[in-house]
Amino acid sequence: MVMRAKARDMAGQGASGGASGPIAVLVIHGPNLNLLGEREPEIYGRTRLADIDKELKQLGRELEMKVETFQSNSEGGIVDRIQQARGKCDVLILNPGAYTHTSVAIRDAIQAVSIPVIEVHLSNVYRREAFRHHSTIADIAHGRIMGFGAESYSLALRAARTMAEESRRRSG
Ligand code: DQA
Repeated sequence: MVMRAKARDMAGQGASGGASGPIAVLVIHGPNLNLLGEREPEIYGRTRLADIDKELKQLGRELEMKVETFQSNSEGGIVDRIQQARGKCDVLILNPGAYTHTSVAIRDAIQAVSIPVIEVHLSNVYRREAFRHHSTIADIAHGRIMGFGAESYSLALRAARTMAEESRRRSG
């Protein structure tokens, strides 16, 4: 595997992936996000996960990026998918759902693969219960976007492109 030094200095973290070709982004949705559209729509909106994924792929085509999406209700499933992305992806866009507030395993996986992460939430967690104010990945994320419903993801995808482009430029 060829580890890419290109994005390595992003946010003080290493990144790995293909140095050439389209910028590759993996979007990971955590537990219960498969129920988007039906689940507490007053908090999370009425857009379904399949529609969010479709829009992200469409936006990816417009921005000439490769976008893959993945959802799992299990912590191990998310850890496995992060590990598989090692060396293959420029940026991870991650909404860990409730695991945001509890998971050391997801934090460790992010640090193990050295891919820069944008943490995303549909809701503004700071306007909600106190237990949602803590994130196990906030301090290792490149940035965090929350509170814009489904649009949080498209904002993250645009930010991912800028991040990866800057990183490729910096490493020549
Ligand atoms: C969420 C916020 C979390 O607190 C919650 O457990 C979720 C969704 C969000 O996108 O707003 O499942 O990550």
